[in-house]
Amino acid sequence: MKEISVLGLGYIGLPTASILATNGYMVRGIDVSPSVVGIINKGGIHIEEPGLKTLVQAAVNSGNLTAYTQPQAADVYILAVPTPITEDKRADLSYVEAAAKSILPLLKRGDLVILESTSPPGTTVDFLCPVLAQSGLELGTELFVAHCPERVLPGKIIKELLQNIRIIGGINETSAQMARDVYTCFVEGEIHLTDATTAEMVKIMENTYRDVNIALANELARISPHLNINAWEVIRFANLHPRVNLHSPGPGVGGHCISVDPWFVVEKFPETAQLIAKARHINDFMPEFTYQMLLDTVRNIPNPKVTLLGLTYKPDVDDVRESPALKLIEMIEKNPDLRLAVYDPHVKHFDYELSGLEAAFRDSDCILLTVDHAEFKYINPRQVAAAVRNRNVIDTRNALSRKDWMDAGFQYRLLGCDYAENGDSVTRLTFFGNPLLSVV
Ligand SMILES: NC(=O)c1ccc[n+]([C@@H]2O[C@H](COP(=O)([O-])OP(=O)(O)OC[C@H]3O[C@@H](n4cnc5c(N)ncnc54)[C@H](O)[C@@H]3O)[C@@H](O)[C@H]2O)c1
Repeated sequence: MKEISVLGLGYIGLPTASILATNGYMVRGIDVSPSVVGIINKGGIHIEEPGLKTLVQAAVNSGNLTAYTQPQAADVYILAVPTPITEDKRADLSYVEAAAKSILPLLKRGDLVILESTSPPGTTVDFLCPVLAQSGLELGTELFVAHCPERVLPGKIIKELLQNIRIIGGINETSAQMARDVYTCFVEGEIHLTDATTAEMVKIMENTYRDVNIALANELARISPHLNINAWEVIRFANLHPRVNLHSPGPGVGGHCISVDPWFVVEKFPETAQLIAKARHINDFMPEFTYQMLLDTVRNIPNPKVTLLGLTYKPDVDDVRESPALKLIEMIEKNPDLRLAVYDPHVKHFDYELSGLEAAFRDSDCILLTVDHAEFKYINPRQVAAAVRNRNVIDTRNALSRKDWMDAGFQYRLLGCDYAENGDSVTRLTFFGNPLLSVV
């Protein structure tokens, strides 16, 4: 039985380590955070992900998963550490470097190192390999190296870890085949082998495709109100075409992947990757656009209180990384005229003080929904109407019922429909004389 060490026990490393452990591997999970290690060794979890707690408990109770703060010897090392971007939009590979350096003294002939972290094209060959070569082992014959990008969706990580198609890129064929042998124990989807740089670029292009597509939807959202039409309706009808799949607009793009990975290409090819860079800028402007929509809504209210519904970058998760709501909070906080209350049913720990639902609505002058958490659909507008000071709601995700909120006396404004920038304030309320319904 092979021994595997997984470095980085976060959203990716912890489920991967647990699945490997429950499939018969002896797994040593390594994390630099002592609190993470302590929680996992008690069978607990430090992140929210459906089904993860049960899986980790099973792995720890089987005796096959133990967590450590210091690297432990194994036959296979999986690096699942963060690869964020710096302020100037460059890949920060310091975690990959630190993790690779930490295993150097442990590496032996025949070992395999797999980089799972999303990385700029060329990282495995040009960045990781030179670090691993410091072990003195010959790469490709004595020490094998592969990149296996992780493409799971938060909220469905465990299902997708098992079922997704895998792309594995080796620094040579033997490395790719050895990595495939590790994943075949649990992956039900097809496994395709290629070179490491292609595998890196596959992952980045998947997220870049989505970022560019969302930028297109956001551009439509800014154009539509000038035409007195609803962007959501345009998208819904366009997507009835068999070869069209327009994504949805919103207050910005967040998360650890889509808002980050395209920069990995722009960084390397600033002159050529112009569409990719433009899409990033369009999406990064959306919090500012939403803020302008907010200011326009509360412009005649003295010292207005804003209720921000949703902190996370996508619905029904607790992950706030790169969330557009954070940028909105920053802008609202900087404006001395605005007061702010933030409510998110999924986020437990956050540096800004969070409110309960009732306190968040109390005396509010404008409700600003930034994420379509399932819970928000069940908020009763009539109850909210009794609690607020002024009845305004801005829906950036087409998540609420226009009719229900308007029936409760609210001015309902949908991003991509009811607000046009450049001072033109549009409210489209009827469709040939009938009340306009949200396209939910
Ligand atoms: N979260 C996702 O949905 C997702 C999806 C696909 C790909 N990815 C990629 O997977 C990688 C990991 O992302 P994540 O979301 O799991 O990150 P995360 O922040 O949830 O977890 C990373 C963990 O690594 C630990 N760590 C940092 N340096 C370490 C070191 N030197 N040795 C051991 N542990 C160390 C941290 O303490 C942290 O617990 C990133 O490259 C990310 O882009 C993430």
